[in-house]
Amino acid sequence: MRPIRKAVFPVAGLGTRFLPATKAVPKEMLPVVDRPLIQHVVDEAREAGIEHFIFVTGRNKGVIEDHFDRQFELEHALTERQRQTDLALLARDLPGPGTASFTRQQLPLGLGHAVWCARELVGREPFALLLPDVLVQHRPGCLAQMIEAARHIERPNIIAVEQVPSDRVHMYGVIGIGERNGSLFAVTEMVEKPARERAPSNLIITGRYILQPEIFDVLAQEKRGAGGEIQITDAMIELSKTQPFYALEFEGRSFDCGSKVGFLAANVAYALAREDIAPAMRAELRRLLDEG
Ligand code: UTP
Repeated sequence: MRPIRKAVFPVAGLGTRFLPATKAVPKEMLPVVDRPLIQHVVDEAREAGIEHFIFVTGRNKGVIEDHFDRQFELEHALTERQRQTDLALLARDLPGPGTASFTRQQLPLGLGHAVWCARELVGREPFALLLPDVLVQHRPGCLAQMIEAARHIERPNIIAVEQVPSDRVHMYGVIGIGERNGSLFAVTEMVEKPARERAPSNLIITGRYILQPEIFDVLAQEKRGAGGEIQITDAMIELSKTQPFYALEFEGRSFDCGSKVGFLAANVAYALAREDIAPAMRAELRRLLDEG
């Protein structure tokens, strides 16, 4: 397959489920431990070999751009205080000069529309799409696993999937699977939020995609789907009529950080995975649970 060099991060949504926290602060900047959600996802993309980071932002999202820029006054203050370790950590997180691009989705017309807004920056090459409100805790990361699994496939469209209990399938995009090809399954069907008895499986689409550029041609038709929004799943269903889609059941634990409980669980899980704070965190959790 052609190398996947570019990743798209749609960050233009309103984050209404997190109001009032997201009134002035973008959802994607909410921290999981001490890193904003968007930084965790950029880390995953970088680890997978992504060279160009494309952010689809919107109004009130300027702080995301600032986060991926140098902060001269802060660097100066840290230098004066000889905080070399902090300086090195900040430098490590920064995308290289010219490797981050920002474009705006002028209205939040849906995830599919946000992706379409990136078409000029992506060009005619396959790309990765990562939703910043989904975190997958695993090394290697979810995107790296997908790229590895697709190495031998000519022009892959790949969706990361995971199993959920069948009483929860109605909340997600669900796929049907056919033949196995290495660790990938052929996708036979995609259904958005099916009734439990109509779901083709209990494998749900989980916020990571590798897509061929022809998806932009489908999105250009601006067809409205559920909620009057331009949906990426609808576009994938259309593209799957002419191109194969595969699914990877990735390794790792996912957190839906667009929901309050998912976000809080991610904070606990990521804190417990950190050597420096895990012991204190564990003690706090025990105390809280005993009291509760
Ligand atoms: P969500 O639907 O989870 O985010 O979209 P949202 O709309 O911001 O949140 P709620 O439901 O109101 O709480 C998943 C990702 O797609 C982006 C969001 O920013 C989020 O990162 N998105 C969504 C866009 O960029 N544009 C859109 O029109 C919709």
